[in-house]
Amino acid sequence: MTETQKSATLTLNGENYELPIFSPTAGPDVVDIRKLYAQAGVFTYDPGFTSTASCDSTITYIDGDKGELLHRGYPIDQLASKSHYLEVCYLLLYGELPTAAQLEDFETRVTRHTMVHEQMHNFFRGFRRDAHPMATLVGVVGAMSAFYHDSLDVTDPWQREVAAVRLIAKLPTIAAMAYKYSIGQPFVYPRNDLDYAANFLHMCFSVPAEEYHVNPILSRAMDRILTLHADHEQNASTSTVRLASSSGANPFACIAAGIACLWGPAHGGANQACLEMLKEIGTVDRIPEYIARAKDKNDPFRLMGFGHRVYKNTDPRAKVLKQSADEVLELLGVDDNPLLQVAKELERTALHDEYFIQKKLFPNVDFYSGIILEAMGFPTSMFTPIFALSRTVGWISQWKEMIADPQNKIGRPRQLYLGETMRDYVDIEQR
Ligand code: SDX
Repeated sequence: MTETQKSATLTLNGENYELPIFSPTAGPDVVDIRKLYAQAGVFTYDPGFTSTASCDSTITYIDGDKGELLHRGYPIDQLASKSHYLEVCYLLLYGELPTAAQLEDFETRVTRHTMVHEQMHNFFRGFRRDAHPMATLVGVVGAMSAFYHDSLDVTDPWQREVAAVRLIAKLPTIAAMAYKYSIGQPFVYPRNDLDYAANFLHMCFSVPAEEYHVNPILSRAMDRILTLHADHEQNASTSTVRLASSSGANPFACIAAGIACLWGPAHGGANQACLEMLKEIGTVDRIPEYIARAKDKNDPFRLMGFGHRVYKNTDPRAKVLKQSADEVLELLGVDDNPLLQVAKELERTALHDEYFIQKKLFPNVDFYSGIILEAMGFPTSMFTPIFALSRTVGWISQWKEMIADPQNKIGRPRQLYLGETMRDYVDIEQR
């Protein structure tokens, strides 16, 4: 970051405090308040971090007003149409697009790590068959630290590299195992002759009883969905991973924490909630009823897949997913899918409604993804695990960036205390 000559002056109790201002390569300037408490004895107050930069980063930039998303400077729509998920993983991890040789080496390293320790199969047997796959994912990914002892030392750059590749490689295998376990089918081992997305579909949908050929349309659509969910600057789950990592916790525990945070319906769980909402609406004629509910302050109902903390324009990922939904459903011969018609009419209605216009609520990444995933054969319970396996590279890239940052220290926010001031204990006889 560039320290500017500019500074902000805070006047407090007759005292002036000069706060340095740093300018980014893109986005708003930041006011450095790191010394504020020591100098002025006050905290800043920002629940939900609506105006707070928690770190500096070079990985992803979002312009919420323009609806732009850049990974290492490359626009997401170009990456979605011209690149593929493992190449985007390389870009996020190492900062540049790989040469052909670098990409081949990286893909080989990931492919060679897709199997999990055979004993990890036993973990699944401890879960109920009807456990949500996210519960299984949190548990099994956290348990990876019980197996891969040679990639736990976060101070060793080589072990960090191995942990990163293991997580990117094994998340699809574990997510597929969670799915197979939930439907009572045998686990399917990864295959080294399939690319990343095709391998995931193979592990989810093939059965020992017959040959399974990955449909290239589905494989391309799967890869595009993974690319679109890979990273998104300091969202809630990434911030969770960074905070967990700041204590020096091992990478598998930190990614398990990110998975747990992503599960919430306000975050990654919105793709499942959105499809369930579209199914509940059912037909276009019921849309006005749900738009009214979404606007009703006394009704907790919100349009799932709509709104965003940063985007005050359409999420660029939603644009790509909407186009992809059209293509995939047409190619699969289900382009008259009623859910897609409801989604499109819901989007059209909302975007012409003063409430949504005034509050700048637009479709986000979760609005169309579920329609594609359901058409591909996934149950709604697998939508967020797919988001998690894709976002693992974003989490681990941000984790590596933070661990390597010399100014890295444990995250420890303060509070605005509104509780009781000191008082003496009262014996039970006097209460
Ligand atoms: C993801 O951060 C990321 O980058 C996340 C993500 C990523 O890639 O990591 O992009 C992935 O999580 C996308 C978001 C998925 N969540 C949903 O689709 C759930 C529905 N959306 C909302 O819950 C909400 O929009 C959030 C959580 C996404 C954002 O919430 P904010 O920024 O805290 O905004 P807010 O709740 O303060 O809402 C502002 C106003 C409120 O009205 P007022 O109190 O000002 O009167 O807009 C209203 C809200 O009631 N509002 C909605 C709404 N979202 C916000 N009203 C109806 N329907 C909605 N969806």
